[in-house]
Amino acid sequence: MASNFLFLGILAITLSVALASDHSPLQDFCVADPNSPLLVNGMVCKDPKLVQANDFSSSGLHMAGNTSNAVGSKVTPVNVAQIAGLNTLGISLVRIDFAPWGINPPHTHPRASEILTVLEGSLHVGFVTSNPENRLISKVLNKGDVFVFPQGLVHFQKNVGYGNAVAIAALSSQNPGVITIANAVFGSKPDISSDILAKAFQLDKNIVYQMQSRF
Ligand SMILES: *[C@@H]1O[C@H](CO)[C@@H](O)[C@H](O)[C@H]1NC(C)=O
Repeated sequence: MASNFLFLGILAITLSVALASDHSPLQDFCVADPNSPLLVNGMVCKDPKLVQANDFSSSGLHMAGNTSNAVGSKVTPVNVAQIAGLNTLGISLVRIDFAPWGINPPHTHPRASEILTVLEGSLHVGFVTSNPENRLISKVLNKGDVFVFPQGLVHFQKNVGYGNAVAIAALSSQNPGVITIANAVFGSKPDISSDILAKAFQLDKNIVYQMQSRF
């Protein structure tokens, strides 16, 4: 018995390393039951007989997000939190609005690759490859252009036009997750010690304190 658990534990660890993305569904659908007290990887299925069309639907994505903020952009997500029927399906969507010169700051999705298309305006987009190259792969996209951000890599978008810009992006997870680099590094709660950040970023501690106060 104990050795079975040990084996399953090792298998689970191995699989989670090898497959850091959503698993394939084992049934037609598994609409999330938000009221279940059970905690599983993903969300518990509600009774398939009680499933309705609305479990697979949301609305309002035609409406622009409010970009009046420090970065000048707004991401409107459509993932399993908005559409319970996305549970176990491995996909989701976002709408991104940009004010003139607004940015979607450098961030990464731990669980998804992303494919983005520009509906309106022009975006400078890019991602950085992992160590040791850390190569920036970037270009300017115009209306109708499509760009891919590979899973886990740090990426960004910037509106380089004089008007608003709008993009739609699909992601390969029901719950892609977002780690915004500046917020995670300089805005963690509690703070990462300024000793660590000063050495990591080769900065004076006062500059680290200043950056921590911004996030
Ligand atoms: C947009 O956000 C700003 C800042 O939070 C707020 O002052 C403003 O009322 C919002 N605008 C709309 C149309 O909701």
